Amino acid sequence: MNRHVPATSGLESRATNVPESIIRKLANAAMHRPELISLWFGESNLETPDFIKDAAIKAIQAGESFYSEGLGRPFLREAIAKYTTDLYGVDIPSDRVAVTVSGLNALNLAFQCVLEEGDLVVTPTPTWPNILSVPALQGARVETQSLSFGSTGWGIDLEQFLETTAGAKCVLINSPANPTGWMMNSAEQRYLLETMRERGTWLIADEVYARLCFSDRAAPSFLEVAEPEDRLIVINSFSKSWAMTGWRLGWLTLPSSLTPVLEKIIEFSVSCAPPFTQRAGVAALEHGEQFVQQQVYDLKRSLNLTEALLTQSDRIEFHKPAATFYAYFRVDGVVDGIAFAKKLIDKVDVGIAPGVAFERNAEDWFRLCFAKSDTQLTEALSRILLLIT
Ligand SMILES: Cc1ncc(COP(=O)(O)O)c(C=O)c1O
Repeated sequence: MNRHVPATSGLESRATNVPESIIRKLANAAMHRPELISLWFGESNLETPDFIKDAAIKAIQAGESFYSEGLGRPFLREAIAKYTTDLYGVDIPSDRVAVTVSGLNALNLAFQCVLEEGDLVVTPTPTWPNILSVPALQGARVETQSLSFGSTGWGIDLEQFLETTAGAKCVLINSPANPTGWMMNSAEQRYLLETMRERGTWLIADEVYARLCFSDRAAPSFLEVAEPEDRLIVINSFSKSWAMTGWRLGWLTLPSSLTPVLEKIIEFSVSCAPPFTQRAGVAALEHGEQFVQQQVYDLKRSLNLTEALLTQSDRIEFHKPAATFYAYFRVDGVVDGIAFAKKLIDKVDVGIAPGVAFERNAEDWFRLCFAKSDTQLTEALSRILLLIT
């Protein structure tokens, strides 16, 4: 081959064809700006609490740096099973739990467990782009159905969704949802699950925002309405609830008959989660309840502040989310969302995510993460308002 021709010339693969992350591209181009206030990523400004850090440090010092069990250290699987059982009042044994290297890794593994080339996956939008790209990278066909938006906020037309999902191998529900904060209620979950059960369809439930819920201790979970051997895989993560985004630790709850299949493929991807981060996970679950509750309390305040500032502009349409730490709002008159997001960076040094990252044609929608200090939020939103009013 000609050595001046790039190695990738003519390369066709799932990886070359998958769209790149719009948020990551915008952020990479702006991260060097010293005055930038960044609200585009889904993470809190809080550091991981010390008692969680200390557990990992102790484990490293005690020499816990070797490969560990593929499905996770037994004590962490037990702790997750107990946490889930206590939270939802349903018995979840530890053989239904597997530790993963992040929620995103859990999502990859869940799809790998159930998908074959060409299978149909259906999910509501707007949604976190990874939810579409992960199954696409595994050779699935991905179809979407838009949530509705009205005076009561975001909702799903379940009958229409059930029509769209006819013939699907797998349905993915992210509730509470990124970016809208939409939350599926228990009755809807029960109805959807019953229909999936009749059809033999797999349901992957991404519940990583379950604890960032403003009305209850946790958002409704499919685990509360499911039977142990339902075709249900629930994704969870330590990232959001315990301010552990950089730790890359998550878990899956699955039917125990699927656990050996999962164990096989964990071996071929990451082999195991780091043992010292798993100690941190146990500390979070066993001693982190107060931290989670304080975080939700603070988020409610930040949401009120965000609402008060956003609604100062007549051009902004916004409905408070039921959960998560995202404000997803519409700016009347914007026709090119990426250009507007770039203008916000260039003119006022604020980074937010354009709606087109989450749904095709959502040119006038934007997402910001409000898990920030009052000072940061007030400054960022005042700057945004300068460009909008
Ligand atoms: C809906 C959703 N699921 C899963 C994740 C994955 O989180 P992590 O990989 O940090 O555990 C995210 C992160 O933003 C998310 O928004």
